[in-house]
Amino acid sequence: MATVDEFAHLPMDVRPIARLEAEARIAHILTERWIQHATVDRLLGYLQEAFDQPPRERMENLLLLGESGMGKTMLIRKFERQNAVSFDEATGVQHRPVVVVLMPPQPTESEFFHRVLESIEAPSVRYWSNGGQLRTSAIRLLREIGARVLVIDEINSVLVGSPRQQRLFLQLLRFLSNDLRLALVGVGVPEARHALLSDTQLRSRFSDIELPLWTLGDDLRDFVTRLVWSLPLRQPSPVDSAKLRAILVERSGGVTLGICKAVERAAMAAIRSGRERIELASFDDPEIWHGVAAPGRGTRSQLRGIAVARRA
Ligand SMILES: Nc1ncnc2c1ncn2[C@@H]1O[C@H](COP(=O)(O)OP(=O)(O)O)[C@@H](O)[C@H]1O
Ligand SMILES: [Mg+2]
Repeated sequence: MATVDEFAHLPMDVRPIARLEAEARIAHILTERWIQHATVDRLLGYLQEAFDQPPRERMENLLLLGESGMGKTMLIRKFERQNAVSFDEATGVQHRPVVVVLMPPQPTESEFFHRVLESIEAPSVRYWSNGGQLRTSAIRLLREIGARVLVIDEINSVLVGSPRQQRLFLQLLRFLSNDLRLALVGVGVPEARHALLSDTQLRSRFSDIELPLWTLGDDLRDFVTRLVWSLPLRQPSPVDSAKLRAILVERSGGVTLGICKAVERAAMAAIRSGRERIELASFDDPEIWHGVAAPGRGTRSQLRGIAVARRA
């Protein structure tokens, strides 16, 4: 029988999980978890400010930048959850103050509005075949559901469009921001800046906010502590070590995804081996680092190439 103090090194909600058998605990480690940290705290504050501004002619928009794997998508999903409202039985309308859209691979107006309709779960999306009708329907629905913030994830995909497509897409964003009085939040890799630079009017309405690569410091120390804390290991892990943090930053290139992956794999190995804790030596195992690499240079330099070509 479990005692009250059992697994006192873990937060209350993780303790019951630590009692489960190995496979169930490993399954738990593999599920998605949200870990709050200082930077996302701050960024959620900016996002909330954008949300709280009253609808007006000139909305303040945000551009959330960060390398791939830094946690941008998780952050906006968190922001979406924070502002979710429940179904209104009286009117039968599902209010959705934050709408998150993933940029289509082709930055065209019709693909974009199809995505908008899909993300607000509008029925029979493909029914609106004609462009103008699609725009009208999407805008009507956005108003109906009480959308206040439209988040466009992977906004850097604009850069793969032809110069004409890019120009038209930026015009569309300007229209959404002016006429719909929605706050826009663009999300993307740092090159996404280029996507907006060519439209000066639009550019001046976006403030950049950033999820920077991790460096050594107190924020990282907190993040690693909380990350390890969230894992159902039966023994306390001595991970408050500058050396361990240096290894994590170096091997991951400072990318959240790599840090999380390495720590999670170390936790799974600790369960399988029966050691039940993570320590510095856990990270000697090359398996822990399989597929973990510094920021994906491939896609980024490709994008950079495109941006340069466009300006030339
Ligand atoms: N706040 C967080 N809490 C827990 N895990 C996170 C967090 N931020 C990032 N991660 C990890 O990093 C991975 C990549 O996050 P994601 O939001 O997809 O990054 P991006 O959109 O910037 O490419 C996630 O799957 C998760 O493993
Ligand atoms: Mg993402």
